Amino acid sequence: MPVLSSCEIQDNLKTSLVGRKVIVLERVSSTQDIARELVEKNAPGGTVVLAEVQSQGRGRHGRRWYSTAGLDLLASVILYPRFSNLTVVSLTLGVAIAIAIRNFTGIRAFVKWPNDVIVHDKKVAGVLAERAGTSLIAGIGINVNQVEFHESVAGSASSLLVETGKEVDRASFTCEVLRQIDRYYLMLRGEGFSPVREELKHLSSVLGGQVAVFFNGKTVRGQAIDVDESGALVVRVDNGLHVRVPTGEVKGGTRG
Ligand code: BTN
Repeated sequence: MPVLSSCEIQDNLKTSLVGRKVIVLERVSSTQDIARELVEKNAPGGTVVLAEVQSQGRGRHGRRWYSTAGLDLLASVILYPRFSNLTVVSLTLGVAIAIAIRNFTGIRAFVKWPNDVIVHDKKVAGVLAERAGTSLIAGIGINVNQVEFHESVAGSASSLLVETGKEVDRASFTCEVLRQIDRYYLMLRGEGFSPVREELKHLSSVLGGQVAVFFNGKTVRGQAIDVDESGALVVRVDNGLHVRVPTGEVKGGTRG
């Protein structure tokens, strides 16, 4: 299995911001922890930390993020956004990852609000946005060439290899992911969420469908009709009222 190389990735990138500095490590607790240490040492925006394997990979809601050594894409990107809305950044990166998967493999990847990327209704990638001082550390986990999944996610997770039947060249794919993150993050920074949101509407797995959204111990059920300018999911509930859910977890939707 080819090992990710920092030179190979950096030389092929040609991005403006994301990947100006790329650090590739073998085994870490979590790339998020390494990125946090780099922020404390004033690492510039756009710095990317990649690892071959994590012993303490984490996902949202305190969950673990499982990966297989040398088979996945595990990255943390240090950003200094002018705004502080984590959902908007997660959605922007979700759009970038879905586009990168489409460009690279030809499969139809969708963004599952607020932070997942799915293929054939299975999760292939997730985004974890965490604050560190004035920075935001965007953690990205993509199941690339993994074929076995931890029992806790065995029914709901998949990988690009499983979905396409073809092994993916991780170094080239990583370049494509970082290029798309650069493109969409700069779009967000320069023009705000509107143009990203338009793209999201075409890539969303939930908009138009019947959903149950879990947030703060409550469940909102109805039709997902929009993602607003703050990244909130707008749900038309049974009495016709529109309920905005700022973040949460969704079941249901239109496609996968
Ligand atoms: C989620 O879907 O819950 C988010 C998963 C994010 C996982 C990535 S892997 C790289 C980075 N380091 C971590 O510990 N987590 C993120």
